Parts: sequence; structure tokens; C-alpha cells
Amino acid sequence: MRKLENILVTGGAGFIGSNFIRYVFKNTGFKGKIINLDKLTYAGNAESLSDINSEFGDERYSFVHGDICDKDLVSRVFIDYNIDTVIHFAAESHVDRSIHGPAEFMNTNIIGTFTLLDAAKNFWNGRSDVLFHHISTDEVYGSLGDSGYFFETTPYDPRSPYSASKASSDHIVMAYNHTYGLPVTITNCSNNYGPYQFPEKLIPVIIFNIMDNKTLPVYGDGKNIRDWLFVDDHNSAVWAVVNNGRNGETYNVGGENEWENIKLVTALCEKMALIKGKDKNNFESLINYVKDRPGHDRRYAINCDKIKLELGWKQTVSFDQGLDLTIDWYLKNTQWISNIRSGEYKKWIEKNYGSR
Ligand code: NAD
Ligand code: DAU
Repeated sequence: MRKLENILVTGGAGFIGSNFIRYVFKNTGFKGKIINLDKLTYAGNAESLSDINSEFGDERYSFVHGDICDKDLVSRVFIDYNIDTVIHFAAESHVDRSIHGPAEFMNTNIIGTFTLLDAAKNFWNGRSDVLFHHISTDEVYGSLGDSGYFFETTPYDPRSPYSASKASSDHIVMAYNHTYGLPVTITNCSNNYGPYQFPEKLIPVIIFNIMDNKTLPVYGDGKNIRDWLFVDDHNSAVWAVVNNGRNGETYNVGGENEWENIKLVTALCEKMALIKGKDKNNFESLINYVKDRPGHDRRYAINCDKIKLELGWKQTVSFDQGLDLTIDWYLKNTQWISNIRSGEYKKWIEKNYGSR
């Protein structure tokens, strides 16, 4: 039986991590404590959890500002908070950035994961009522053609510095399970979307640029396909695995919701036009086909029968509902947006892409 009382969430100030912490406190009946360890890189925003801090701070929620590569700090966190569960989200997560500057991806995603695993092994010292859950991605499986799906048994074939660093960390997690008996689980998930997503990923980029009347950058021919999943459906999957997933197993998590990029961009133009009371052509005319991402994976599609059959998980938010909810959140949270945009993110975008 897993203890699940003092959970160390890494990267909890990022997009999925912050939604996950909110989801656990608000939707699961969890009675324990969450410790959020985050370096607050350009992608981390402590403001995304200000509501949780006010409601659960001190007693049941603590924020630790620090780097998962810092061995001494990580060991201290395990001891100070008597950690029995790790849910490891922290990563450099953006494929384009990994092409411009891979070093930080190798450091955080590989060395950071290793540092956490080693601290867990030393602190838990053979216990079996503990768990290290690692958040991974479908990108480790490579790229699909027009047909077929990624299964848990699909051989790894990562193609970007980001996915190679994630694949590497997955292997280290499994090595700690096989070699040292560390209790672990992994989830490999498809593209998430929802509130608090950093405006460098496709959906928020398009929403933001429509709001600002800027061009809508579509890479290559726009026919690459992604499988979109609402972030709280990912969160419920992670929670199901952390509670009931089998030790040493990988579970794929997907939206079963494939969209060509250009069709998704057009759908967002239509939704925004409806909200703003304008003709959709006003926004569709902003679409701008730009230079393709080097090594751009063509299609991702997840088969998630295993988690459905074994753990009874399923998606609950349709794409139509999820996009409406997401757009509504961005339209209402203009302060969060301008705070994000006045920081590091804006400087990086301007340096690498100009003011698009
Ligand atoms: P994100 O970029 O929004 O957030 C990452 C968080 O990690 C930030 O808060 C950042 O400050 C923190 N962080 C980065 N380096 C750190 C370090 N060295 N030490 C401590 N904290 C550090 O990422 P996200 O989109 O929320 O993704 C979270 C996880 O989910 C990642 O592991 C990613 O690979 C995985 N994933 C993401 C998606 C997706 O669609 N976003 C899909 C599948 C898997
Ligand atoms: O599949 C899971 C992965 O999904 C996660 O592991 C990554 O952390 C996450 O960033 C995401 O990776 P993608 O590269 O698929 O997401 P992104 O939003 O960057 O791009 C989605 C698609 O849209 C991709 O085909 C590239 C394209 N794109 C992206 C941007 C930012 C554009 O056409 N224009 C853009 O401006």
C-alpha cells in the first residue's frame, strides 16, 4: 500500500504542474501535503498558484525555490518534509528552445532526473510504500506516418534534443527500478492544452496573436498532426497511476483527438471571431506559413487502452469544451499574461524570432 502523504511535486510552477497541484487539492480528496520544488525558470510562475498558496499554504502546501540538479538541496527536501512520493514534472519542455540551446535540456532533464532518483533511493532505502512517478512524453517514440499509434511497447526513437533528453531520463528511471528496486511508474502523454500554458506553445501563441492582431505562425505546410488532451484529463491520469499504477510500468495517456495544425489554427480563428463578433476571415487572413521547425515530427497519436482498461481512466473534456474554457481563461486573465510577457519569455522570443 502506498503511503501518499507528503508529495514532492517538481516543476509545480509550470503549466501542467500548477494545474496538477490545483487538481489534487480541489478534486481528489487528498488529505496530505504537497511540496513544490521549482527553479522558476522563464516558464515557471509562482503566481499561477497564488490561490493555492492562500488556501493551503504552510499547513498543506509549501513552495521551495531551487534546482532539481542541486544534490544537497534535493536531499534536504526529502529529509525536511519526509517525502514518500515524487511526481516529477520539472523539465525544459519546449522543442524549439531545445533546437536553439540544447545544453539546459540535458542538464535539467537528464542530470536533474538522475539527482532526484538518487536522492529518493538513498532516502527511501529499500522501502516499498513509496513511489517515484516520472512525467514523460509521447515524443520519445518518434514520428508516425499517416497510420498507426504509439503503444507502451513501441521502441524509443527520439528525434529532437528535447525528446532525446526525455527518453534518456525515462531509461534512467527504469534502470533505478530494475537495478535498485526503486518503486517507479512513468506516464507518456500527448500534447496538453489549457489554462496557464506558457505562450510559446501552439494554442496560446495563436490565441495571444489573435488578441494582439499579429500574424499566426504555422510551421511548414501546417499538416503536422498532434493528439490534444485537456490538462485536467492528464492530471486525472497521473493521479490514477500514482494511486493504482503497477510498479515498474509505463502508461500512455492521450486525447484520442488528432488535429492537423492548420485545421486547429483555423478552428481557433473561428472561435475567436465568434467571441469578438467578427468575420472569421479577419483572423484567418493573419495565418502566415513560416519556415519549418528542423526535424519537425510529422504525426503523434497515442493508444491509451492500457490505462483505460487497467485503471478505468478516460478523458472527460471534449476538444470543443476544452478550447472554449482555455480561450475564456486567457481572455479573463490579462494580468497573468502581461506579467508573463514582461519577463524572460519576451526577451527570448524577440532575440530568436523578432516581434512576431
Ligand atoms: P513548463 O515548461 O510549463 O514547466 C516546467 C517547470 O519546470 C517550470 O515551472 C520550470 O520553472 C521548472 N523547472 C525547469 N527546470 C527546472 C530545474 N532545473 N529545477 C527545478 N524546476 C525546474 O512544462 P509543462 O508543459 O508543464 O511540462 C511539464 C512536464 O510534462 C515536462 O516534464 C514535460 O516534458 C512533460 N510533458 C508536457 C507535455 C505538454 O504538452 N506540455 C506533454 C507531455 C509531457
Ligand atoms: O507531444 C507532447 C509534447 O507536446 C510535449 O512533450 C512538449 O513538452 C510540448 O511542448 C509539446 O510539443 P510540440 O512540439 O508538439 O508542441 P508545440 O505547441 O510547440 O507545437 C505543436 C505543433 O504546432 C507542432 O507541430 C509545431 C507547430 N507549431 C508550433 C508553434 C509554437 C506551429 O506551427 N507554430 C508555432 O508557432
